[in-house]
Amino acid sequence: MHSPLSSFENHLPRRVITGRGASQSLAAVCQTNGWSRVFVVSDAGVAGAGLLRQVALPLRAETFAEVPPEPPIEVVDAIAVRIKASGAEAVIALGGGSVMDAAKVASLCVRHGKAAREFVGIGKAGGRGLPTVLIPTTAGTGSEATFVALLTDPATGNKVGVVDPCILADTAIVDPTLTDGLPAQVTASAGMDALVHTIEAFIARVATPLARGLALEAARRIGRSLEVVCCEPGNTAARDDMAIGSHLAGMAFANSSCCAVHALALPLGGRFHIPHGVITGCFAGEMMRHNSPACAEDFAALALALGWGAVDGAAFAGRLDAVADAIGLRAQLRRVAVPSDAIASMARDAVAIHRLIDPNPREVTEADATRIYWAVLEPV
Ligand SMILES: [Fe+2]
Repeated sequence: MHSPLSSFENHLPRRVITGRGASQSLAAVCQTNGWSRVFVVSDAGVAGAGLLRQVALPLRAETFAEVPPEPPIEVVDAIAVRIKASGAEAVIALGGGSVMDAAKVASLCVRHGKAAREFVGIGKAGGRGLPTVLIPTTAGTGSEATFVALLTDPATGNKVGVVDPCILADTAIVDPTLTDGLPAQVTASAGMDALVHTIEAFIARVATPLARGLALEAARRIGRSLEVVCCEPGNTAARDDMAIGSHLAGMAFANSSCCAVHALALPLGGRFHIPHGVITGCFAGEMMRHNSPACAEDFAALALALGWGAVDGAAFAGRLDAVADAIGLRAQLRRVAVPSDAIASMARDAVAIHRLIDPNPREVTEADATRIYWAVLEPV
């Protein structure tokens, strides 16, 4: 049963600018802050889609547009070297979660003169980094609203997190036009991840009242628009809902927590390079089936906000499975053959991620994690 915290603290970006065309205000944002020299971090997909040119050209800034997906820790150090050499006063990130996360940690490296690895963990920043402007080009990660950055440790294959309110954006700019041309698979996986953020932020043991309010509004927008935007990529109203909804969901889990779906997602994503939202989307139903005895009231409230009507726990979980199927996530997961002998070590690693397992509304043992991996992956 959910018992709201009696004392709590919330952390949000200092300034948020939203709306179609909002990214056009970037030059004005730089001017207002007195930054004469900024550095832009992005990736090849964003550059190839013409968005880097469109957004960053007026700044005449140095750019690093080669952030790889699931960025290894060392890439962040390489970016930091470039930023430092440029003499930039602020860092602009234009891209999805990987780009924004790399930029957040690179800004710490530059300001504090340390390697990215030294910031891994909770509360290791030791003060804010260079100022950041985070501009998402996908609708899902919510990274522009959070103080988590996920990187890959090439030594172990595991995802590692830099978690500290000091990496919150100075300014987040949420411009849905940047998501209009997103490929269908990214629209689906990122959008489903936002839905999972919403649910986990709402049901987590550590959810603040602010987070629960944000999660319900995120659920309202994502519920009515996720499947629509996957069927009708040109539906701008649905694109707007997903951009704002995923941003609100990011704010929600930043002031609550993600839970066990994300704990199981990290070892799997680190080992098999399956898109994060494909994993969280496919595991959500089975994990909510597990959580159901502890979440009756919360699932009822979420289902209403999502537009699913009055459903019980079993139907709520079934509905999540149905969405993952309908938007093609299950098919994407099936393309990767996960060997059955990988499951034991993934289950062991997953339950050791206490920052995600402990807030889960129902205990998840290693045996539970093993059972859920088997049920969802149907390994070879
Ligand atoms: Fe996620």
